[in-house]
Amino acid sequence: MKNIKKPILHVLEGNRLKSPPIWLMRQAGRYLPEYKETRSLAGTFLDLCYNPKLAADVTLQPLKRFDLDGAILFADILLIPNSMGLKLKFEEGVGPLLETINNFDDVEKLNATEQIHNILNPIYDTVSLVKSKLDGGITFIGFAGAPWTVATYMIEGKGSKDHQKTKVFMASMPKSFDLLISKVVDATVEYLLKQIEAGVEVVKLFDSWAGSLPGTLVKKFSLEPMKEIAKRIKKRHPHIPIIVFPRGVGAHYEHFSVINEFDCIALDSNLPLEWAKEKVQINNTVQGNLDPSYLVSGGLSLVEETMKIRETFSDRGHIFNLGHGITPNAEIKNVEYLIDILKG
Ligand code: CP3
Repeated sequence: MKNIKKPILHVLEGNRLKSPPIWLMRQAGRYLPEYKETRSLAGTFLDLCYNPKLAADVTLQPLKRFDLDGAILFADILLIPNSMGLKLKFEEGVGPLLETINNFDDVEKLNATEQIHNILNPIYDTVSLVKSKLDGGITFIGFAGAPWTVATYMIEGKGSKDHQKTKVFMASMPKSFDLLISKVVDATVEYLLKQIEAGVEVVKLFDSWAGSLPGTLVKKFSLEPMKEIAKRIKKRHPHIPIIVFPRGVGAHYEHFSVINEFDCIALDSNLPLEWAKEKVQINNTVQGNLDPSYLVSGGLSLVEETMKIRETFSDRGHIFNLGHGITPNAEIKNVEYLIDILKG
C-alpha cells in the first residue's frame, strides 16, 4: 500500500482505506488526567477555551498518548453565542449556563458581524499554535455548533431534554426564530472562515440536538442552515471538507447524504449499521459510530462492536469514531485497545 500522508483527508477526498483512520469526539477531556491538570491550571473551562497556549496543549494531549489520525480544536460550540453578546459560564456539575433570548428585540441585538472576532481571536491563536506543532500525518479538524443546536442553548439557557421552550419560541415567533437562525449562520461562517485561515483542514458542524426537531422541520432547521454554511465556506475554500453530524435524525440521515456540500456524514450510535451502509454510505463517506459506553466497559464487547462497524463500512469511505462524545469515566486502556483493534 502506498504511503498515505494524511489518512483522514485521504478518505474525505473520496477514497477508501483498508483500515479506517480514527479520531474520537471529545478526545481531549476529563477521562485524561493531564487534561484535568491543565484545566485546573487554567481556572474555569471557559478560561481554558480562551487561553491559546493551554487550549493548544489540551488539543495535542490525546495525540501524545494515542495513535490517532485527527486533532480536533479544543473549544466549545457555545463560544459563538458568547461572542454574539450573551453571557456564558460553565458551572461545575451543572454544565453550561447561557444568557437567554426571549423576543424579537433580543434577537435583533445579537451581533453577527466581524465584531465577534474580538471575543473569538484567542481561538484563532490556538489554531495557529496547534498547527505549528502538529505532526505531518495528523489532520486538523475545526468545528462549530449547527444553528439549531446553538439556538436551543440561546433560548433554553442550558441543556434541556425536550427543547420545548425552543420549539414554542419557533412556533409562536417564527420571524424572530428565522432571524435568529440566519444570524447564527452568519456568525458561524465568519468563525469557520477564520479557523480555516488560521490552519484547520476540515470543519465539522455539530447538530447534537437535531433529533428533537419535529420530522417536518428537520430539513428547514437542521439540513438547510448547515448547507448554507457549507456553501458559503466552499465559495471561499472549495477544497475544505465538511463533516456534518445531525445526531438523532433517524431516517432523515438519507437526505443529508445526498447534499453535495457535505463531504462526510457523522452517524450516531443508534442507527442500524446495514441501513446506514445502504442509505447513507452509498452516497457519501461516513464517520462513526461506536457507542461511547464501550470505552467504559472494554473487553470482548468492545472488540465485537468495533469489528462489526469496521466490517459493515469496509467497502466505501469510512472514518472510525464514536457515535457521541467520549465520557469522563472512559478508560484510557480501552481507548488504546480500540486503536490496537483497528490498527494492530
Ligand atoms: O475534544 C473535542 O471533541 C473538542 C472539544 C469540544 C468540547 N465541546 C469540549 C468540552 C467539542 C467539539 C465540543 C462540542 C460541544 N459542546 C457540543 C457538541 C457535541 C456534543 O457533545 O453533543 C455541545 C452540545 C457542547 C456544549 C457543552 N460543552 C456542554 C453541554 C458541556 C457540559 C457537558 C459536560 O460534558 O460537562 C460542555 C463542556 C465541555 N466541552 C467539556 C469539554 C471537554 C467538559 C468541561 C470540563 O472540562 O469540565
